[in-house]
Amino acid sequence: MTTNSLDQKSQAWSGLFTEPMSELVQRYTASVFFDQRLWKADIQGSLAHAQMLFECGILSAEDFASIQRGMALITEEIEGGHFEWKLALEDVHLNIEARLTQLVGDAGKRLHTARSRNDQVATDVRLWLSAEIDLILLLLNDLQAALLALAEKNIDVILPGFTHLQVAQPVSFAHHLLAYIEMFSRDAQRMQEIKARTNCLPLGSAALAGTSYPINRLRVAELLGMVNALGEPQVCQNSLDAVSDRDFAIEFTSACSLLMVHISRMSEELVLWMSQNFAFIQIADRFTTGSSIMPQKKNPDVPELARGKTGRVVGHLMGLLMLMKAQPLAYNKDNQEDKEPLFDTVDTVKDTLRIFAQMIAGEKDPITGVESGGLRVQKEAMQTAALKGYATATDLADYLVKKGLPFRDAHETVALAVKQSMKQGKALSDLTLQELQSFHPSIEADVYAVLSLEGSLHSRMSLGGTAPDQIKSQIQRHALRLQKESACL
Ligand code: ARG
Repeated sequence: MTTNSLDQKSQAWSGLFTEPMSELVQRYTASVFFDQRLWKADIQGSLAHAQMLFECGILSAEDFASIQRGMALITEEIEGGHFEWKLALEDVHLNIEARLTQLVGDAGKRLHTARSRNDQVATDVRLWLSAEIDLILLLLNDLQAALLALAEKNIDVILPGFTHLQVAQPVSFAHHLLAYIEMFSRDAQRMQEIKARTNCLPLGSAALAGTSYPINRLRVAELLGMVNALGEPQVCQNSLDAVSDRDFAIEFTSACSLLMVHISRMSEELVLWMSQNFAFIQIADRFTTGSSIMPQKKNPDVPELARGKTGRVVGHLMGLLMLMKAQPLAYNKDNQEDKEPLFDTVDTVKDTLRIFAQMIAGEKDPITGVESGGLRVQKEAMQTAALKGYATATDLADYLVKKGLPFRDAHETVALAVKQSMKQGKALSDLTLQELQSFHPSIEADVYAVLSLEGSLHSRMSLGGTAPDQIKSQIQRHALRLQKESACL
């Protein structure tokens, strides 16, 4: 075994340097304490690279075998928690390579033939992120399934639909939940599209200009599973672009920002709905906290925090955009700063999706079988709120239009009727037929059917409307889609 030339980082470059790095600069430039989470992708990438070098006759069979043996040992060390990460070795790549050389000697030093850390790190991040996107897709599917199950149980539960947060028209609670399913389904679509662009191989671009070794980049892509839906290897086609752009990380964080904005809108509603003024829902106690001073309080901390964490993810998007904007081609060390925002985005989104699915659906302990409930719907409170706000006024106007009035006149007539009922503290449906007829003689006894919440709901059967039949067919469509999507995950 030869001595390890990477033990001190200054020796990693060459004899060109006349003084060692100061401790402060070492700390400032190192990334090992956060990028070590890329270790698996780094080893995977190195093994594929080594295999290709061997297959192309650039690396001997013995050296390839030594590298495989060394990487297996390193995997054990890292998994067992006894790998020694060294700040002096700057990052995950140099740490693993140094340990490999320590374990297997010269073969370890030959691994870096025809590659640079520039194409190596870009490959690691893309590999790691592709796998994380798969997990996020799974969690998005789960959350949609949780919302769908709740929707199925609440087709006939009516709450006021709002515009400007003013009572507007009655809608089914299931319809409201389906709106979020639509948003999350688009988030999943975006993730799929971004995964296809992320899962593309930079390795073989070397430092920036490609390499003079007779390598086979397509083979490496194939070995790493960087292939498209047809199974064709995906390889970055310009070496300068491959080592330097981080647009895949930016678009991923952008899609996550949008996803979190959707979560945040839902959080805002959960918080409102849980307040005493609405009292539409109860969130299970284990997702709420009490107050240290006000004994009566139960605070919806989880949705509030999710709303707050949305700002954090959007901030990461801004950070990554700013990181990229003034970088000349090709690689610059600035790019090392892509990791913390990216990692934190992934952690935040995964935790949020998991906790939301549990909060909505409840959970069942796989061992004890004990079920803990999810979101509890207070249907009477929803119904009462819908009755309070003259939510069926549009239905009365539509009724008059069907009797031959122009819509603008019908609108005005109903406005007067609402004003009158407000004065009397009554709902529209509380007015007698005579009273209603005083607003317009064409009103007949059948008007009460449209003034009821149920009548209003059932009448909105346009595609995508809130009528129960529409809702049922949407539920069916989503159930099929989710099933199909989860089979591919
Ligand atoms: N830790 C570095 C990063 O994350 C690896 C690439 C370093 N390349 C270089 N030429 N210094 O970007």
